[in-house]
Amino acid sequence: MSARYRNFQPADTDGLLALWDQARGSGFEPVYSLAEVLASCNQDHAIVAYEANEIIGVAVGRVAHEQGWVVLLVVDEAHRSLGIGGRLLGELEIDMARSGITKLSMLVVNDGNSRVLEKVGFVDLKHLKYFEREVSVSERERELLQNLGGRVLARDLWGKIAGMKNEKEMLERRLVLPLSDAKLAEAFGVEPPKAIVLFGPPGTGKTTFAKAVASRLDWPFIEVFPSRLAGDPNGVAGGLREVFTEVNELENVVVFIDEVEEIASKRKGDPPSPTQGVTNELLKLIPNFREKPGHLLVVATNYIRALDDAFLRHGRFDYVIPIGLPDAEARRSIWTRYIPSLALAKIDLNELVTRSAGFSPADIEYAARKASQRALEQSVYESQVATRETSTTTTEHYLWAIGDTRRTVSDEVIDEFEQDIERLGRL
Ligand SMILES: Nc1ncnc2c1ncn2[C@@H]1O[C@H](COP(=O)(O)OP(=O)(O)OP(=O)(O)O)[C@@H](O)[C@H]1O
Ligand SMILES: [Mg+2]
Repeated sequence: MSARYRNFQPADTDGLLALWDQARGSGFEPVYSLAEVLASCNQDHAIVAYEANEIIGVAVGRVAHEQGWVVLLVVDEAHRSLGIGGRLLGELEIDMARSGITKLSMLVVNDGNSRVLEKVGFVDLKHLKYFEREVSVSERERELLQNLGGRVLARDLWGKIAGMKNEKEMLERRLVLPLSDAKLAEAFGVEPPKAIVLFGPPGTGKTTFAKAVASRLDWPFIEVFPSRLAGDPNGVAGGLREVFTEVNELENVVVFIDEVEEIASKRKGDPPSPTQGVTNELLKLIPNFREKPGHLLVVATNYIRALDDAFLRHGRFDYVIPIGLPDAEARRSIWTRYIPSLALAKIDLNELVTRSAGFSPADIEYAARKASQRALEQSVYESQVATRETSTTTTEHYLWAIGDTRRTVSDEVIDEFEQDIERLGRL
């Protein structure tokens, strides 16, 4: 009996599923997912080969402008080598040509049976290699994210954090490793962290690190601003509860609360302060949040000793991580970012790095701007040599500006920070 050919009909689905199962592991391994193939059967182009009432082969295709893609080609085992595959592709091509394609392409698994394809005119483009990348957020999630003010960050933020080698290594090991490969973590009995605290003096990069972790994991990032929830009809506590309920719908997410001491400071006084209800609410929300895998809560504070003791108790936050002032390498990179490229070659960076020890990134930015402004004024009003092609900014300008900048983080604050690390840090 010879095979006959026609367009796919919904009633052919069972036959297709049977062939699908057969094809797996047979050298005609499907490349696209079943969901993709079924969608194309219904919306794009699909041809079946049949004999009596039995489906013995299927070819499915999809059009992308002038290029057609074969998303599935399978022939029943008992009917191979009879030219059915070639004929299916021929019928599919005729069907798809009506949509204006000029080329038909196909992806096959590497060790698959490509000789069959060469026989019917396909060329093996050996110089091409296939790459793919997961889309991190689905369309439905995108809408939810937008409502929550969240977004997917650029992918390179982690790499952009200069220096801070110890902090980065610690976060890479404790957070990124178990969170990015939950199966591996499970195999070793490691429970991936669900919530962490970052603490340290102002401007040391806590916010930067929180975003960089999200970027590194390729998870969306949502910053929650408790002060902005004040307008909620149910108050800040109610608003917070609502945000956490919505967040629960997301597959993966990093939720960030900055300056958390504002809503979770030590409970004291009678009557209790107005933030008391908010602190209590947050304490209730964290255990729920912790139940959902693929979610990470990051809170940051400049003032960890002000936090409520219950807040820091074991079981709520997996790690309490200090983020200190930028080390020499980080300072170098921050200087480089703020010194104009025209001046950079002439500047003694090593000297600036040494002399700015104890500066926060924001202090460096301030000093750099000050140096530039002074150099500009001098060259215009005093020496009158200003041109747009050269820069007369010198190392001296920067050293003067460093001398004229007060460190944000005093020795006293650094001392306190060291004590906090000792007493409250948890790595
Ligand atoms: N390691 C680093 N390399 C380059 N730039 C950095 C680094 N750390 C911080 N910065 C820059 O310094 C500035 C301050 O950092 P950030 O806002 O993350 O600090 P913070 O600890 O969150 O401050 P605050 O306590 O005021 O909230 C930002 O502009 C950031 O880009
Ligand atoms: Mg911050």
